[in-house]
This record gives sequence, structure tokens and C-alpha cells, in this order.
Amino acid sequence: MDIGIDLGTANVLIFVGNKGIVLNEPSVVAFNKKLNDVIAVGDEAYKMIGRTPEHITVVRPLSDGVISDHKMTERMITAFIEKVTGKQLFMPNIVMCVPSYVTDVESRAVVEAAKIAGARQVYLIEEPVAAIMGAGVDISVPDGNMVVDIGGGTTDIAVISMNGVVVKLSMKIAGEKLDKAIVKYVGNRYRILIGEKTAENAKMAAANVYSPDGGRSVTVKGRHLVRGLPEQVEVTDYDIYEAIIDHVREIIDGAKNVFERTPPELAGDIYKNGIYLTGGGALLYGLDKLMSAELGVECHIAEDPLSCVARGTKYAFKNIDKLLDGFEHVSMYK
Ligand SMILES: Nc1ncnc2c1ncn2[C@@H]1O[C@H](COP(=O)(O)OP(=O)(O)OP(=O)(O)O)[C@@H](O)[C@H]1O
Ligand SMILES: [Mg+2]
Repeated sequence: MDIGIDLGTANVLIFVGNKGIVLNEPSVVAFNKKLNDVIAVGDEAYKMIGRTPEHITVVRPLSDGVISDHKMTERMITAFIEKVTGKQLFMPNIVMCVPSYVTDVESRAVVEAAKIAGARQVYLIEEPVAAIMGAGVDISVPDGNMVVDIGGGTTDIAVISMNGVVVKLSMKIAGEKLDKAIVKYVGNRYRILIGEKTAENAKMAAANVYSPDGGRSVTVKGRHLVRGLPEQVEVTDYDIYEAIIDHVREIIDGAKNVFERTPPELAGDIYKNGIYLTGGGALLYGLDKLMSAELGVECHIAEDPLSCVARGTKYAFKNIDKLLDGFEHVSMYK
């Protein structure tokens, strides 16, 4: 059994060789401080966000694309792997994708956690490499392809050819930053404090970063900052646009920067092949159109962008000896 894990800031996905995606849950852990024990992970823990008594904390151990809480990250990984493998006797090989800002020491801790959960061998893969393979691109040939993977904590942009990364850039601007910007905007404009989950839903329901025209809107609920009482307000695509467009432009500027550093032959290939958008942020309404217009290169949203990285691990297993950059046998850390 081969297992691929996308250890994302927002979501963890697990891919099993012949079955496909078997687990897809938010990267959240609920912890009982009194008992010093994990009480829930994933979906179950997500429901508890902002709703716990004092002795229980709910954490996103990988917020902002870094491991902010080692112990919790390890506990979460072991819990997810055990959920998938059950009490089986054989030991799986694991290909794991960790966020790009995670340090070597942190990756090693994550690898150890996977071993504790029963892995025989653990390999690490860079996110954009997995993402572009999951988008269905054959990266083994001498042809340049560019991927922009917009996750919860980080945006990873890379140009890949012949199984290697040629140019890359990681930025800490992604979904979570957009949610925070919406919280701030609604507070300033309407004097209502909303939660980040509410802001994320508003982003999904009412964003239009290409041509806001009042056609998309959503009602958000929160607490009035002056009166202190519950309150709701209708937020339109104009509002969301105002709130997030600067961050969205920073992401597009990141892609421009990578393009500028790309050798000319490969730039020509990308012009022909287009740019692949993966990760949940690829679904931001109007982003593909805005990016295509700004860059003058066709940008395609990959099929099922949220699962590209996890599905990409399948190809990683097939090419385990062929991949160069970003595909390291863990023993290399020793
Ligand atoms: N329809 C949508 N419109 C806008 N954003 C969306 C949509 N669907 C999901 N997202 C955003 O995508 C992000 C999650 O994407 P994804 O699961 O690819 O991240 P991740 O892999 O966990 O994070 P990272 O790659 O940074 O570690 C969240 O911020 C979520 O709000
Ligand atoms: Mg990701």
C-alpha cells in the first residue's frame, strides 16, 4: 500500500494507491489541557472552533504555512494515518508534501510522526511539483510548465521542466490572508466583527475579483462593535473586491516575478501551454480571468484544484527514481 499525504495549512488529504482520496479533513486539532490529551482531529475538531470551554483549545497547528505547534502537528498526522490504515500489520510507503516554509528540522519531525504511525519509508515532495503532476501535466519532458498553487497559508509558484524545478517562489499570501482582510474590512466599513470562518464563507459565496457588479452577495452575521449586540449585514462582491484585491494583486505580481526570471525557451513553452492554477485559492471567483488578462497568458483552473497535490503523489510513486528537485529520500536528511 502506497500512501500520499498532502499536509496542508488548511486541509489534510490522504491518497491511497488503488482507492484514490480516502481522507479530506481540515488541519485542526482539539486538545484537552486538563487531561493533556487530543480529543478530536479534522472535521470533528473544526466544528469546535470558537465554541470551546476554557480547558479545551482548538488549534490549526500549521497556520501561516509554518508549523506553529510541533506536538500538535505530530499528533494530528499520527491520528490521520491511523484513521486510514487502521490496525494493519504491513507498513506503507508514504510520500508527503509539506508546506514550503517548513524547515528541515520541522520536516524531519513530521517524517518521524509518520514513522511512529507505522510508515516503512517516508519521502518528501515539494508542493508545486506534486500540484502540477496532479493537474495532469507530464513534467518528464523538455517542455516548460508553470503552476500557481494557492493554498490556505502559502502560494507556491514554480516553473518545471524535465522533472526539475527551474524557477520558484513561495509567498505567505493565500486564503487565510484574504479571510483576515475581509474581517478587517467588514469591521471598518460596517462596524461588525465577524469570525474568520464567516469571512471565508463570504469569500467563497460573494467574491468576484475580475468584474464585481453587485451580482454576488451574502449575508454575514457578527457582533456590532459599538452596540455589542449580534447584527447582520449584506456584503456584496464590491465589498469583497475592496477587501482583498491588493492581496490578489500581490499574488499576480509573484507570478510576474517568476515569469521574468524564467529562461526564454521555457517562457515560450508556458505561453503556449498556459499556467495551471491549483489549490483552493484557484477557485477564487474571477481569478483565472484576472490573471490571464494581467499576464497575457491563458490561466487554467486545474480539475478539482483542492486535490491536485494529493493526486500528484500517485505519479510521484511511479517516478520515485526520476524526480530531481524537491523529491528527496528522507535519508538525505541524516
Ligand atoms: N471557492 C473558493 N473560493 C475562494 N477560496 C477558496 C474556495 N474554496 C476553497 N478556498 C480556499 O482555499 C484554501 C484552502 O486551499 P488548500 O486546501 O489547497 O490549502 P492547503 O493545501 O491546506 O494550504 P497550503 O498549501 O498553504 O499548506 C482556503 O483558504 C479556502 O478558503
Ligand atoms: Mg496545499
